[in-house]
Amino acid sequence: MSILAEKNIFTLNTQNYQYVMGVGADNILHHLHWGRQVPSDDFSVYVYKEQNSNHSALDFMNFEYTPFGSTMYRECAFKCVFADGCRDTVLYYDSFVINANTLTVVLKDPHYGLTVELNYTVYSESDVITRNAVIKNTGADDIVIEKACSAEFSFPGRRNYNIYNSNGTWSGENNIRVQKLKCGTIAYESRKGISGHGNSPYFIVGQDECEDSGKIFFAVLEYSGNFKVAVNKDGFGVTRAVIGVNEFDFSYTLKSGCEFVTPNVHFGYAESLGEMSNTLNSFARKNIFPKQFADEVLPVLYNSWEATGFDIDTQGQKKLADKAKQIGAELFVVDDGWFGERKDDYAGLGDWYVDREKFPNDLTELVEYVNSLGMDFGLWLEPEMVNENSDLFRKHPDWTYHYDTRKASELRHQLVLNLTKPKVHEYVFNCFDELLSKYNIKYIKWDMNRPFSEVGAENLENEKMLWFLHVRSVYDVVDRLKGKYPHVQFEACASGGGRADWGSFRHFDQVWTSDNTDALDRIYIQKGFSLINPTKPMRAWVTDTGNASMDFKCKIAMQGALGIGCNLTKISQEDLQTIKENVKLYKKIRKTVQFGDRFRLMDLDRDELSAVQYVSEDKSESVVFTATPGTRFMHNYFNIFLKGLEKDKKYILDFGDKKVIKTGAYLMNVGVEKKYSGKFVSEIWILKRL
Ligand code: GLA
Repeated sequence: MSILAEKNIFTLNTQNYQYVMGVGADNILHHLHWGRQVPSDDFSVYVYKEQNSNHSALDFMNFEYTPFGSTMYRECAFKCVFADGCRDTVLYYDSFVINANTLTVVLKDPHYGLTVELNYTVYSESDVITRNAVIKNTGADDIVIEKACSAEFSFPGRRNYNIYNSNGTWSGENNIRVQKLKCGTIAYESRKGISGHGNSPYFIVGQDECEDSGKIFFAVLEYSGNFKVAVNKDGFGVTRAVIGVNEFDFSYTLKSGCEFVTPNVHFGYAESLGEMSNTLNSFARKNIFPKQFADEVLPVLYNSWEATGFDIDTQGQKKLADKAKQIGAELFVVDDGWFGERKDDYAGLGDWYVDREKFPNDLTELVEYVNSLGMDFGLWLEPEMVNENSDLFRKHPDWTYHYDTRKASELRHQLVLNLTKPKVHEYVFNCFDELLSKYNIKYIKWDMNRPFSEVGAENLENEKMLWFLHVRSVYDVVDRLKGKYPHVQFEACASGGGRADWGSFRHFDQVWTSDNTDALDRIYIQKGFSLINPTKPMRAWVTDTGNASMDFKCKIAMQGALGIGCNLTKISQEDLQTIKENVKLYKKIRKTVQFGDRFRLMDLDRDELSAVQYVSEDKSESVVFTATPGTRFMHNYFNIFLKGLEKDKKYILDFGDKKVIKTGAYLMNVGVEKKYSGKFVSEIWILKRL
């Protein structure tokens, strides 16, 4: 049984692990255990007594969902203001319901009409549990929520944990940082309106952890807006975390009879970093990706942005399309610059009609041409934005977030549209609707290139709700469009990886990982990405950026969902041929890459070689990518230990120039000895089970 509820103890069992909580004599839901499985009747809830005047009993207890109030001072999961001004919340256990694989524990405030439902959905096979909290106003008066995390967690023992997150920038996403938490709080957050390039909405809390062993507690938040993860180690040595929508400038008015549903958190325990990544990788594939394309491989796309910038027209794009076809692309994408008065980035955003100077015969001519070559057609839009120099802004200057008393801060000469206004939401939907009904478009790249500012939203009674409502509005537009145009794929982009998060994985089919397409930098960005994110949606392009060889660039980009962004009309015949051969190879291996387990075998900084391995779910095929920009100190020999194979089965390992047959046991324990020398060396090996 994956959910047991006996004697006030709730036990959630996944295939290998367990999460336990219980209701104490104090009528509060306590956290009891997270990790390996133990018999559930061993558990009971110990309710502490007051220790001294400075430490009430509450300081010693681990709650499942701590409200602000009473003598509880830790980072709380929930805070609200009741209509009479009371800011103290009490959440007593009320009841529970089990519905299929979901346990709902109902907590209630004894005085006010406030109910908090904690939902836990157990994905047993995946070793993942999904949590959220639903806040309900069952009283007559408004309740103003000031903080509502999706989940709170407590970690076992008193030893220091290592806390992982990324600390990146635009073009430097997924820079993983690990800090030992000895005391106090480590918090990661976004305040920009999107999840952003800096930190990411997840936590990894580990002890003695490495790729092959350790104790690891992890959680990812399914949300693309302002988030906060705070991990605290208190004076008694206990580590706890909260994760959810950021309380920064947040507030949400809950009317009588209404509810606030926090974003989902998917969490689990693993006994190595590799296991954690693969748990999440396969969980996302099976449970998160939008259904339409979840089981299909993503196409090899060509995107003309880096080749042509704003300088686009029918003839130029046709020439690129010819070349894209030659190299084997399946989808041809026209990026920024096709609409309105978009000669540069000073104008046009918001005016989503075709620039007839650039496309005198409308987009139709190009779309038909691309289709006649046997490729699908895709288009870029940045629907949440407007330039001051646009018809849309001239007509509706009040459609942006703004304060009448403040000058709007422009970034890249653009402003953010207030998508919480129903009219703006409808406008955005209708722009897409017109384009998708008129042209044979199979893919949309949804971009978002600047953070919010001057966050006034005069349409809202409580303006601080805008952060949350904006994100919901974006998801709603995409979901509505997907409903109406189920054959269209969507990609989430925000100046590269500013929206590459689990909220996007739920609503979009793929994400743009980073504007940084330098192959060497990409080794790090993709490795950081792989820690907590699934492989399939990770778009990776080969472009003209950087000084790596073309083959090297291809072999790095082939480790995700391959795209090509080079100026194909300018590169040498030899490079064109290299891309073509790699695209051909990619099509053979992409199912294993996009759907397989993934192992970070070797690290460029530590081992002077990057080695990443993918293994198909049935373990019959595996692909290994090795890459080094150049070895140093005459270190030319590398021993690469494979992973994830069946130890008793034989595999034929195809290096390209020679083949060997070995057992999985040999390949994993003795490994493969390889000699590499020279600059920008990269290889792909394919293994097939015999
Ligand atoms: C952003 C995206 C790029 C490209 C440009 C177009 O920077 O990340 O891929 O689409 O916008 O303006």
